[in-house]
Amino acid sequence: PRKIIIDTDPGQDDAVAILLALASPDEMEVLGITAVAGNVPLALTARNARIVCELAGRTDIPVHAGCDAPLVRPLVTAEHVHGKTGLDGPALPEPQMPLAEGHAVDVIIETLRDNSPGTVTLCPLGPLTNIATAFRKAPEIAGRVQEIVLMGGAYFEVGNITPAAEFNIYVDPEAAGIVFRSGAPITVMPLDVTHKALVTKARNDAFRALGSRVGAAVAEMTDFFERFDREKYGSDGAPLHDPCVTAYLIRPELFSGRHINVEIETQSELTLGMTVADWWGVTDRAPNATFMGDVDADGFFALLTDRLARL
Ligand code: BDR
Ligand code: CA
Repeated sequence: PRKIIIDTDPGQDDAVAILLALASPDEMEVLGITAVAGNVPLALTARNARIVCELAGRTDIPVHAGCDAPLVRPLVTAEHVHGKTGLDGPALPEPQMPLAEGHAVDVIIETLRDNSPGTVTLCPLGPLTNIATAFRKAPEIAGRVQEIVLMGGAYFEVGNITPAAEFNIYVDPEAAGIVFRSGAPITVMPLDVTHKALVTKARNDAFRALGSRVGAAVAEMTDFFERFDREKYGSDGAPLHDPCVTAYLIRPELFSGRHINVEIETQSELTLGMTVADWWGVTDRAPNATFMGDVDADGFFALLTDRLARL
């Protein structure tokens, strides 16, 4: 299995991404979960990550708290999507497991130093503050990363927090800039992909039909999360953004995209956090990321439901 660190701001869709990873030990070994401020403040994302581990019966997974604010900007949160706790929907108990010792940034640095080069994959599901801070503090670790598979950005689908920007990149564009310029191999799941991974009624019913605690919790999370997209956009269901990252580590052939140049806008107020993706190769800027554009949505949901059944 690939060794991974999940860097996250749960978030119902982050929660499902984590559950998918924990249900897939043949493909990935979760070395740890690092929480970052994003959808809700850090205290809540660090809490929610532990709730998810307990839901999966995996209190052995270390959950570390990380950065509580973006590198240079005030934190923007998304309670309007995820609810007050960030994990609204199911009634889940407060976590009993303690936070693991050590700041997330130091844990990321130490893990990359302690493992052979090219053997640890980073899975960022929120703003890139923890990862960028680690790269700034210990620049040599970028060269030791096997791959960064992240949810963030958009090209044709442009923005969900502003007309130009996707939430994770928008919240900390300076951090995203550092990560995209780091030289580490990057695979991106942008809105172009995740807006095709919609939890329709039938897909939600399939989670519930698992008849397990996890199945019920995932159905209730996506029920809650869905309200926003259905009411606001008349969409068929909630886009399951972050689970695309962990699904990619199991079945990469479900996704297709292009290895292209992606730059992050950090100056313009109007387009702050935009992922300027050279999809058509109209510049001579060197490719720095594989930007996905499509997903086999039925294959993705079949995989997800099958794996959740194992928990
Ligand atoms: C991203 O923003 C968050 O609200 C979701 O958890 C996802 O990571 C989608 O833009
Ligand atoms: Ca997220």
